[in-house]
Amino acid sequence: MGGTLDYDEAEARQEEAIYRTPAAAARRERVRGLLAPEPGDTVLSIGCGPGFEPAEIGWAVGNEGHVHGIDRSQAMLELARERCASLPQVTVSQGDAGDLPVADESVDAAVAVQVFEYLETVSSAVAELARVLRPGGSAVVCDADFASLVWRSPNPERMARVLRAFDDHCPQPRLGSRLAPVLREAGLTVDRVEPNTIVNTRLEEETFAYHLMQFIEDYAADHGAIGRMAAQAWANDLREQEVAGETFFSFTQYCYFVRKPVSR
Ligand SMILES: C[S@@+](CC[C@H](N)C(=O)[O-])C[C@H]1O[C@@H](n2cnc3c(N)ncnc32)[C@H](O)[C@@H]1O
Repeated sequence: MGGTLDYDEAEARQEEAIYRTPAAAARRERVRGLLAPEPGDTVLSIGCGPGFEPAEIGWAVGNEGHVHGIDRSQAMLELARERCASLPQVTVSQGDAGDLPVADESVDAAVAVQVFEYLETVSSAVAELARVLRPGGSAVVCDADFASLVWRSPNPERMARVLRAFDDHCPQPRLGSRLAPVLREAGLTVDRVEPNTIVNTRLEEETFAYHLMQFIEDYAADHGAIGRMAAQAWANDLREQEVAGETFFSFTQYCYFVRKPVSR
């Protein structure tokens, strides 16, 4: 999630809690499986967040490799530094996806997971990704399409209203289904697209649905389009439904495996 770029410490910790959930760990595993980083590789983690992503890729590339995590948010970078402190092959620094502080054709592989959907201009970030990849290098770009969200509620009209308003939490809520032409336009080949679907049938603390519910409630408190009272009523619908044993939540993120051709 992470609708704002300027996380304070508490918001960064809240986001970190989401990245601890089994669903987030499984997504990172899927992304690593697609990317298949090799020992010795140099890998860029664009929008590295609280550092799970660079740390886990760091284990894969080993001491001979290097992972560079970049994020715009200082609060996120502090968490990432803490998390990666014992991994000398991982460095993290501040930078913007639209203007990467990385030399041309200097990385073997890159990941940008749930980052581009938060950008006003996706094409410049994709162009930057293409610039820094070496010829033959590969990347995984993963973004959601919020239209994939199926969330059962005893009050479907209220659910539809809240989700419509929540679409405004990021500039690109449909990016997951619209990435392929943008990637090709930058000269990358799209080799595979894999869905990462999260299904929760409980609304418990370790579920993605639980955290998204809290995120939407907090978002509503600051954004008139939903309103605090309406968001509370919506969340209460979900809690009552959970007590009745009727929770159902499904959400898909799309992971694009791309390559930079050897001769362009
Ligand atoms: C939803 S988190 C994803 C974290 C990580 N990729 C993962 O999947 O574990 C999005 C991250 O992208 C960062 N971000 C958003 N816009 C950015 C930009 N323009 N440049 C660099 N980082 C950005 C945010 O600060 C946040 O840490």
